[in-house]
Amino acid sequence: MAPTTQNRVAAVTGGAGGIGSATVARLRAAGWQVAILDRDMDLARKIAAETGGVAHEIDLADGNSIRSAADWVEANMGPVEALACVAAHLENPHNPQDQDPDEWEAILKVNLTGTFKTLNAFGNPMRQRGKGAIVTVGSITSTNSSPLMAYGPTKAGIINMTQNFAVAWGREGVRLNVVHPGPTRTPAVEASYARGERSPDVMIRQTALGRLVMPEEVANAIHFLLSDEAAAITGIEMTVDSGTRATGLWSLYGGVPDNNAG
Ligand SMILES: NC(=O)c1ccc[n+]([C@@H]2O[C@H](COP(=O)([O-])OP(=O)(O)OC[C@H]3O[C@@H](n4cnc5c(N)ncnc54)[C@H](O)[C@@H]3O)[C@@H](O)[C@H]2O)c1
Repeated sequence: MAPTTQNRVAAVTGGAGGIGSATVARLRAAGWQVAILDRDMDLARKIAAETGGVAHEIDLADGNSIRSAADWVEANMGPVEALACVAAHLENPHNPQDQDPDEWEAILKVNLTGTFKTLNAFGNPMRQRGKGAIVTVGSITSTNSSPLMAYGPTKAGIINMTQNFAVAWGREGVRLNVVHPGPTRTPAVEASYARGERSPDVMIRQTALGRLVMPEEVANAIHFLLSDEAAAITGIEMTVDSGTRATGLWSLYGGVPDNNAG
């Protein structure tokens, strides 16, 4: 019989956001008890009411907050078997000479240092119990240059960090994998389109599938990698980008064929 997820505990950082809340909903649908960890508590409570998860505050810029959130979930919900590290400090495109130095520091603090501390705070108890699965969230900007000057390097670092932990903790029963979303239609990204900072049409032209990704589709990949069905998978990168990475050099040859052109 397949192991049940009933009463098993999962934690999602950034659980109030677009991809995070879709991940919460996907895990809840599979029977997990889910801690929705976010710095935006109003939104986290709303997602908790919609999904039946449990909202609790975390600030990835503050190591004490990360530790106390991990302790709170273990004490109040039970041993955490699955962790999705979805929270991130996002960024708008700009040239390197225009980088705000404070924003650089803030992005590194949340995305790199915060993720490192989250992996340790939630992962060490998993390691001690000999069982756990973790998914970090990268981005297709992690391995391609982009004008996301601070964000891109932090996402590149997350690949290396995840693989380091995957090897260090593999024989202690803890798996770690990275999911790389491409442009995903979250409320935050839709708002950025509305402000004219990004163009969905330009992004769609760079996909193989001719459409952007929905948050639920990233959540499906995160859920799979956290589930027992992925028991032999660790240290990998799974890209959910409607084929954006695959389009590679096609723009040099006139772009991706538009088969709907008539
Ligand atoms: N949406 C996309 O197109 C896209 C593309 C590539 C990668 N990603 C990645 O997917 C993940 C989710 O992105 P999203 O689009 O859902 O964004 P989002 O802004 O909707 O969600 C991010 C969540 O993280 C929380 N957060 C931010 N800083 C925090 C902090 N210091 N402490 C605790 N929580 C904090 C926010 O409150 C928010 O709820 C991020 O890691 C992002 O880098 C998104």
